[in-house]
Amino acid sequence: MARVLMIVGSRRDGNCAHLARKIKEGFARERISSDIITPGNQKIYLCTGCMDCDKNGVCDFNDDMKSNIEKMNESEVILFLTPTRWNTLSGDLKIFIDRLNPLFSTKRLKDKKVIALVVGAKKRNEYSTDGALTSLGSFFESAEANMIYYHQFDQCLGFTDILNQEDKIEQVIQEMIEKIG
Ligand SMILES: Cc1cc2nc3c(=O)[nH]c(=O)nc-3n(C[C@H](O)[C@H](O)[C@H](O)COP(=O)(O)O)c2cc1C
Repeated sequence: MARVLMIVGSRRDGNCAHLARKIKEGFARERISSDIITPGNQKIYLCTGCMDCDKNGVCDFNDDMKSNIEKMNESEVILFLTPTRWNTLSGDLKIFIDRLNPLFSTKRLKDKKVIALVVGAKKRNEYSTDGALTSLGSFFESAEANMIYYHQFDQCLGFTDILNQEDKIEQVIQEMIEKIG
């Protein structure tokens, strides 16, 4: 099982997906195993708020969240990558996060090492990514997870714009490797 599980919040083969693949390559050079999942391309039902999972820590739905939750339990670090959408995180990622209540109710996210990488189209001083980072940060705080690193990538509009930030990506990979240890 991979040491790092990356959750990609955009279903298009765009900046978050390209960034995740670059990170996977960088981690592999240091023999850190990683896995990538893209919830938007999976079968994931919307949380109905039935709260059954509060009683037994298990969701009644039978869909891809079963294996996602298994992977999250077995991974040392969970790395979330989200595009900024209307100054918050993507809908795909919110749907995924809502379905994590079985982990919350059984305290299995407590102290879990988590990383937030957020991508936006605007410049930082135009508030490109702050809202997305705050949204993820609020989720981590509620879940009592341990955010060990975050980074905001701005000025990424086209599908592969992030690949113009090669040096920044390498720096972020090195900084994450140091934090993961
Ligand atoms: C509906 C929608 C809303 C967006 N809102 C913002 C925003 O508030 N701030 C921003 O900087 N970029 C915004 N963007 C641009 C995306 O964050 C940007 O294109 C990002 O690189 C997309 O990542 P992806 O290629 O992984 O999908 C928005 C894009 C869409 C589709």
